[in-house]
Order: sequence, then C-alpha cells, then structure tokens
Amino acid sequence: MLNLQGKHALIFGVASEASIAWAIARKLHDAGASITLGYQQRFKSRILQLVKSGEIPVAHYERCDVANPEELEAFFGGIQHPIDILVHSIAYADPTTFAKPVRDITAEEFTAALVPSAYSLIPLLRAALPKMSPEASVMTMTYLGGQRVCANYKLMGIAKAALEATVRELAADVGQRGIRVNAISAGPIKTLAASQIAGFDDMMRVYEAVAPMRRCVNQDDVGNLAAFLASDLARNITGQVMFVDAGYSILAMAELR
Ligand SMILES: NC(=O)c1ccc[n+]([C@@H]2O[C@H](COP(=O)([O-])OP(=O)(O)OC[C@H]3O[C@@H](n4cnc5c(N)ncnc54)[C@H](O)[C@@H]3O)[C@@H](O)[C@H]2O)c1
Repeated sequence: MLNLQGKHALIFGVASEASIAWAIARKLHDAGASITLGYQQRFKSRILQLVKSGEIPVAHYERCDVANPEELEAFFGGIQHPIDILVHSIAYADPTTFAKPVRDITAEEFTAALVPSAYSLIPLLRAALPKMSPEASVMTMTYLGGQRVCANYKLMGIAKAALEATVRELAADVGQRGIRVNAISAGPIKTLAASQIAGFDDMMRVYEAVAPMRRCVNQDDVGNLAAFLASDLARNITGQVMFVDAGYSILAMAELR
C-alpha cells in the first residue's frame, strides 16, 4: 500500500495553486508525508496565501533560489529532520527564447536557461545529501521536448535533454547509498511556466485530438505518480523518465479520428 507516514518531503517549485509542485505536495501529504517548501522570493506573497489557506498543512517554508549557493546553504542549514523525498519542479527560460530559433541562441541565453532548468538538480541534491535518509527518493519534472522536437519548446527542449541525462548520471552516482533519482515527463498542463510558451493552447488541443486516450493530463495525475515514486513501492526504480501523458509519447503517426 502507498504509505508515506513519517516521511519528510522537501518540495521546490511552488509558484501558484496551479503549480505541479503544489499538486505533488497535496498527494504526498494525503499519503502521510510532512511538507516543507522552498520557494523563489518573487513568489513569496503567493506562497504565504497558499500556506495560510491551510489546504495543505505546510510544516516549514523558506525562500530558496536553487541557482543561489547562499540561499541553498541557508535553506538546508535550517532543515532539522532527515530528508526522505526531494522534489525538483523547476524550470526557467527568458520568455523570448521560447520563440527564438535555436540557431540564434547565445551562450548567455543557453546558460540562463540550462542552469536553473537542468544544472540546478545537481546542487540541490548535493545540498540535501548529508541529511538524506537511506532509500530517499529524488524526482524532477521533464517534458517530451527533451527527447523529440516539439513545437515552440526550442531551448527548453535542450534543457530537458540535459536534465534527463543528469537524472541518469545522478541515479548512478547515489544508487549505492540506496537513493533513487527519477524524472516525470508530463503532458501539457496550464501553469504559470506553461503560459510563457507560445501556442501552448494548441499543444493541449493536439493532445486532446490525437493522444491514445484523447485527453490531457492534469496536476493530480503527476502528483499520483510522484507519490508512487516517493514510496517504497518504487524501491527499485531509478534513473528513469516516466511518462504521464495519456500515451502521447508512444505516437509516431497519429490518427486524426
Ligand atoms: N506545465 C506543463 O505543461 C509542464 C509539462 C511538463 C513538465 N513541466 C515542468 O514542470 C516543472 C514545474 O513547472 P509548472 O508547470 O508547475 O510551472 P510553475 O510556474 O508553477 O513552476 C515553475 C517553478 O520553477 C521555479 N523556479 C524557476 N527558477 C528557479 C530558481 N532559480 N530557484 C528556485 N525555483 C525556481 C519557480 O519559482 C516556479 O515555482 C518545470 O520543470 C516544468 O518544465 C511542466
């Protein structure tokens, strides 16, 4: 049975009620885990509103920009309990780069997207490691654009490819300690980050029209998989990219009926 009683989850990536990370927090809490949030300062007021709403009891919350070593150190210095679950639900690229042909991407734009969206999983895990319990579960969020060319995803596709390779390397790095590292690849879901992607509504329409299950996924679908990956039921699953996308990723030639 899926039981996270007594487990402590650190979740990074809540910016609003629509964030995938918030749905993950809900599902982990429902299964018995206690929830700590690390948030970006620019979303502080939204975080306070969410915490005050009491919808999900949040044991602890503190600012933490994962690209900022001082904030990472301060955040993890304040963690008093063993970390059983670490959720990285983070991505960032300047909105202009989503529309920009990849051949025109500069080194600065590449770095500005790849550091928060892919590299940041490394310092996050490194900072958490001394306090991680044996058999801890680490997870991050990715998209099919990391494996195939998806309309309007461009630079972020490169970032997700790097993130997925990082997951495999980290899984190999920490596997002997009993720690697992996986990625969840979700179909398109309306969130703040998604609103930066041109043509996002079209992406959702395409999924509804041709995905084997003829529908889109939602935040709770991702939260359910996250709860499974966090649990002992997934104790021998690591280094994987697991899809929650109503089957869209299996397609090569879709039927339009
Ligand atoms: N929404 C989708 O369609 C979809 C599909 C597949 C994968 N994903 C991925 O899911 C993850 C969460 O995105 P979301 O859709 O919930 O959007 P969101 O806007 O709610 O979340 C993005 C989060 O990234 C955080 N972030 C960015 N840079 C950061 C930094 N330097 N330090 C700390 N936090 C930082 C933001 O604060 C925000 O909380 C992302 O990795 C995204 O690429 C989203």
